[in-house]
Amino acid sequence: MNPHLDKLHPYPFEKLRELFAGVTPHADYAPISLGIGEPKHPTPAFIEKALTHAIAGLANYPSTIGSEPLRAAIAGWLERRYAIPALDPATMVLPVNGSREALFGIAHAVIDASRPDPLVLSPNPFYQIYEGAAYLAGASPWFVNSDPARNFAPDFSTVPDDVWARVQLLYICSPGNPTGAVLSQGDWRELFELSDRHGFVIAADECYSEIYCGATPPLGALEAAHALGRSSGERPYANLIVFSSLSKRSNVPGMRSGFVAGDPQVIKKFLLYRTYSGGAMSPPVQTASIAAWNDETHVQDNRTLYKEKFSLITPLLRQVMDVELPDAGFYLWADVRRTGLSDTEFARRLYAEYNVTVLPGSYLARDAHGTNPGRNRIRMALVAGVDEGLEAATRIVQFCQNLRTAS
Ligand SMILES: Cc1ncc(COP(=O)(O)O)c(C=O)c1O
Repeated sequence: MNPHLDKLHPYPFEKLRELFAGVTPHADYAPISLGIGEPKHPTPAFIEKALTHAIAGLANYPSTIGSEPLRAAIAGWLERRYAIPALDPATMVLPVNGSREALFGIAHAVIDASRPDPLVLSPNPFYQIYEGAAYLAGASPWFVNSDPARNFAPDFSTVPDDVWARVQLLYICSPGNPTGAVLSQGDWRELFELSDRHGFVIAADECYSEIYCGATPPLGALEAAHALGRSSGERPYANLIVFSSLSKRSNVPGMRSGFVAGDPQVIKKFLLYRTYSGGAMSPPVQTASIAAWNDETHVQDNRTLYKEKFSLITPLLRQVMDVELPDAGFYLWADVRRTGLSDTEFARRLYAEYNVTVLPGSYLARDAHGTNPGRNRIRMALVAGVDEGLEAATRIVQFCQNLRTAS
């Protein structure tokens, strides 16, 4: 068997199951989960209709590159959303079956395991797929801790030169999971300069880009690159590839639809890789995806619902823990040190006493450079309905206040 498989860590939810083993939650409370980041708002009816109307497409094998109308719809969305020049749909855009499989696959297309000790740079905390992708592509992950003092941007100046020399791929997530932080133009400039100097590919994970509370949509990697004059010339968006998804934007996590876009040289190799790995998107899903990328009304409605939840729930929680509105995404990334409990104790006792599930932050990060940057934090996914979210927040406040009176 592939020995790299033994390097994979259990998924955070497996660790949570272990943490909760033997615990019987308080019978007076119905379960509420803020644990898993699965969108729960209803799928818009027009997307369901588009899918069923295209069901006859099941009779055909799809091509890996995807239909021209789908690639054009994605390129059109990118142009509108980021005010960038149109990307060539034939060479710079590729549909993928959700961003997860593509974030995993890209490491296999990029990593040259014949070079000595290849490294994949990852933020910490991070989406666990980056780490597994690194290992299974024959590389090792190297973590750069998110720095709360820099709005959770990783501090790349801490990475030694001998490490940069071995980095072939860098994952970055903006808006971040779990931090919700959005990289600034200055952060991107630094990253592009590093990529130019050391020759690594940047995989920019942007699957939360459409869920934000403020008036300004999060800056995208292609947008930042364009502002720096990197969108044209011999190699547009050199060494940059962006991953996006309909799962959160359009509430279709089960449809498995996303795209990658950027550097045509990277896309060309990734397309070749995908032809063998079998990454073609089902024809009805392609049709439904076109409908979804071409509509913004449902995305605005979706955002409004998240905004309402964030504006009601965050002030409640702020009474008992250190928590701020994120730049974007649907997570609250709270510091629970004030409660006197560790992140795991907090999650376990909250589950036992109030039947609310939250994810310990340390499960989303690794010990690196003497610390686990997720420790003492919890991640709460505001995916449930407004009422359920408010009920969860009320229980969490009660839980924390009881802790205070008990101590
Ligand atoms: C940071 C991040 N990237 C990518 C994904 C994958 O999403 P999908 O495969 O549904 O596009 C997720 C899903 O939760 C995520 O949190």
